[in-house]
Amino acid sequence: MRSSISLAVLLVLSMGRGQAADPDPAAIAYFEKQVRPLLVEHCQGCHSVKTKKTSGGLALDSREAILTGGDSGPAVVPGKPEKSLLVSAVHGTKADFQMPPAPKGKLRAAQIAVLETWIRDGPFIPPA
Ligand code: HEC
Repeated sequence: MRSSISLAVLLVLSMGRGQAADPDPAAIAYFEKQVRPLLVEHCQGCHSVKTKKTSGGLALDSREAILTGGDSGPAVVPGKPEKSLLVSAVHGTKADFQMPPAPKGKLRAAQIAVLETWIRDGPFIPPA
């Protein structure tokens, strides 16, 4: 009995600490396997400090850069894909604002779903 109570307390404490101190291994794996390859292949050519191109003032390669966003503000609102600029950009719901831009054009629906799930569930984003 005693041990299950302390386990519950521990759980609450570790939740309060947030991802920086104690990242969830499943969230890390999701980012590394699903999200990072997508950002690298489809976005970072134009949005990365590494490629020295930060179109619209936006870099998509660190937690800070993604949450701060570019000229139009935060690219991602944690837990809220429907309020995240990154999501409306890949849906192309704002005119003149389809990402990736033509001629490469829109991501597949499954790829867009990966980004939405990532943002809804966290998102886990490494510091760099
Ligand atoms: C071929 C280059 C290119 C690629 C690839 C690209 N973008 Fe962009 N992106 C741009 C340009 C240029 C702008 C600035 C548009 C403007 O301000 O009118 C921009 C702007 C943005 C913005 C708004 C930044 C701001 O704060 O104003 C977001 C969000 C964004 N892109 C997300 C993405 C995502 C997500 C991907 C990958 C799925 C992506 N982009 C791929 C060129 C690109």
